[in-house]
Amino acid sequence: MEIFVADTYKQMSMKAAQDVITLMQASKNKLLCIASGDTPAGLYKEIVSKVKTGALDVSDWKFVGLDEWAGMNGHDEGSCRYHLDKQFFFPLKINKEKISFFNGRAADLEKECATTEDFIKQHGGITVAILGIGLNGHIGMNEPGTSPLLHSHIAEIDPETQAVGQKYFTTPRQLSHGITLGISNLIQARHIILLASGINKAAIVKKALEEEISKQLPVTLLRDHTGFKIYLDAEAAQLVQL
Ligand code: F6R
Repeated sequence: MEIFVADTYKQMSMKAAQDVITLMQASKNKLLCIASGDTPAGLYKEIVSKVKTGALDVSDWKFVGLDEWAGMNGHDEGSCRYHLDKQFFFPLKINKEKISFFNGRAADLEKECATTEDFIKQHGGITVAILGIGLNGHIGMNEPGTSPLLHSHIAEIDPETQAVGQKYFTTPRQLSHGITLGISNLIQARHIILLASGINKAAIVKKALEEEISKQLPVTLLRDHTGFKIYLDAEAAQLVQL
């Protein structure tokens, strides 16, 4: 595990973006797992800007979405896909065939899981997984207590996450369930890039690094992964002794 601390959110995002690009370019298979949420938005902005200026070509990259709220897809304002379409897929004009993303509105969510697993296999596994971290240590929608053995699955959302998740929406939404890649999928990724920024993440970052590895704190399950790198801004790193 490596830790990189930047002074600012912008610097953290720039460094993480550069590392994602380097890792993707060095890999024969190029499947990027992307999280939604506020934290990776700056990283996506950097990648979009490099493509727009001609400094980067992502035409041979494929993408898998980390998670989605049950009952929602890209047509729902505030959904994971909605934000990623706006920040990443639309500006880069990524062809739909290159993206696998859980459709939370599908009648058969188990089938969505199977389709995602097939896509990952078909593309040789996840090259780089970009992740954020929840205030309770969740990763994707793997909430405290989730089995680390799970692959894609339907998840029950913790009450705290349901409350925090309202920030992505303009009107209150029911966020009781989601569909997510499991810890097993992430452990099998060749590289994991986890980002945390802001003072409200300082306490969970400290726990992520210092507490015993346990499924009660899902982020700790990634700690033994040899390609695991954590990117922090100064505020998120405030309680950590480095
Ligand atoms: C989003 C996701 C979540 C977020 C986490 C942090 O796709 O899987 O686990 O990464 O809740 O969210 P932000 O970045 O908004 O603080």
